[in-house]
Amino acid sequence: MFAQVNSVGLFGLNAFPVTAEISSSAGIPAINISGLADMSVQESKLRIKAAAENSGIKIAKCMYTVNLAPADVRKTGSFYDLPILVAMLTVSGVIDADLKDSAFIGEVSLNGDVCFVQGALSMAIKAAECGIKRLYLPYENAAEAAVVKGLRVYGVKNIASLAAHLNGLSPIPAAQPVDFNINDSFSVPDFADVKGQDAVKGAVETAAAGFHNILLIGPPGTGKSMIAKRIPSILPRMTFEESIETTQIHSVAGILNKERPLVTERPFRDVSHTASSVGLIGGGSVPKPGEISIAHNGVLFLDEFPEFDRRVLETLRQPLENGEITISRASGSVSYPCNIMLAAAMNPCPCGNYGAEGKTCTCSQKQVTGYLGKISRPVLDRIDIQVEVPSVKYEELSGREKSESSKVIAERVQRARDIQLERFKGTKIRTNSQITPDILHEVCVLDEQAGAYLKNAFEKSGLSARAYDRVLKVARTCADLDGSEIIHKKHIARAVQYRTLDRKYWQ
Ligand SMILES: Nc1ncnc2c1ncn2[C@@H]1O[C@H](COP(=O)(O)OP(=O)(O)OP(=O)(O)O)[C@@H](O)[C@H]1O
Ligand SMILES: [Mg+2]
Ligand SMILES: [Zn+2]
Repeated sequence: MFAQVNSVGLFGLNAFPVTAEISSSAGIPAINISGLADMSVQESKLRIKAAAENSGIKIAKCMYTVNLAPADVRKTGSFYDLPILVAMLTVSGVIDADLKDSAFIGEVSLNGDVCFVQGALSMAIKAAECGIKRLYLPYENAAEAAVVKGLRVYGVKNIASLAAHLNGLSPIPAAQPVDFNINDSFSVPDFADVKGQDAVKGAVETAAAGFHNILLIGPPGTGKSMIAKRIPSILPRMTFEESIETTQIHSVAGILNKERPLVTERPFRDVSHTASSVGLIGGGSVPKPGEISIAHNGVLFLDEFPEFDRRVLETLRQPLENGEITISRASGSVSYPCNIMLAAAMNPCPCGNYGAEGKTCTCSQKQVTGYLGKISRPVLDRIDIQVEVPSVKYEELSGREKSESSKVIAERVQRARDIQLERFKGTKIRTNSQITPDILHEVCVLDEQAGAYLKNAFEKSGLSARAYDRVLKVARTCADLDGSEIIHKKHIARAVQYRTLDRKYWQ
């Protein structure tokens, strides 16, 4: 007797179709699994047997040969339990149904329950691409998978109810997709609490609008951490596409909130400086995404920037440039997207007061150089907006007036982002920070004065060639915030100013 059941495999974010083929024959009762199945898959034999027995389902006692096709692709994970079990039930005659358009994913526990799996969204997307019409997966994954268009998703609680459904006895209702537009407002801190620091707030607004990396540098207690933690309150809305991308990563990382199966708020990952490179970049024997990918389409916040291990910071270089990170392991290589806005905050020296007006730095020159030197030139070069956060004046701090609220700033940011979405429609680019060299001059049109200013900054102030492109992109964002198609001198001047700090501290 022979049967086959569709399923989907997963490695990293890469999902691929898998068919569980089964053949039963007379002989000593046994289950053999082939098809490059690793230990986690081999163990499914034990789970399946116990699950069936404990659910009161009788499987014919014979010899089963299971093959997970394609046989030359490595299979790892426990989610093949369900397709293998359904294949066995089919070949044993327990289930009598046409399963051509159906696929099954899920781990089975010894009592017959079907348990939550990681990466369900990526697998559901692949299933739909392969023409699957009905997807059966764990009940707790159903809402997540139901986002996928053209797929009827059934959340399965246990194998007994699945058998009853497939035999037409007691139907499981199809899962309802979560509404993308639900906007439960999180309580994020507001910019209204931050007194003064208008220039810094302006820089943060620009960074959020164009998705530029930003560095805040200044003496202790001036509000650097306070300001950075308020960035989520002004970020533009996520698009549906962005939401799906980030949800897939969170699903694979196993951090998806079961109550909110679709990530609709941009991530803000505040990472401790004790983070390892695996924690930050990703890794493990089956490579999992790191913080930089979990922050995809959102913000990666590195406070006390020089306190991070220098080697860890260096590993950021390639992903910051490419918006993608590839992790290679013996089990294969995996790529995760990491299109992020990096926000970093730091003091300029161990005592914190170097270069600050009205304050005395107690560090030796060597200490200062050593401290700043922890941030390498190439890492610094990737940060488009660098701003000084000065001490707040007493009058500003003691004033009772509230500053501009995050809501007002967020509206300007959203308008600037909408302009970018329109500008880059039909391309892979989403924000000004991603403008590629081939279209740089087409989308960054300067008026005469702006051109002259830039030429002067380049020739006289020693702006580097690498900085040139980046200045133009930031100027593009300044103009977008102004609603101006042409880049004027004031826009270029601001962008150049954001690149001058490194000369004060790093030279
Ligand atoms: N501009 C400001 N407006 C209102 N309160 C402020 C401001 N700046 C600092 N504070 C107060 O000072 C506290 C410390 O600020 P914060 O932790 O952001 O400083 P920091 O610049 O990150 O310092 P450090 O360099 O030591 O990390 C804040 O929690 C807040 O109470
Ligand atoms: Mg701080
Ligand atoms: Zn100092």
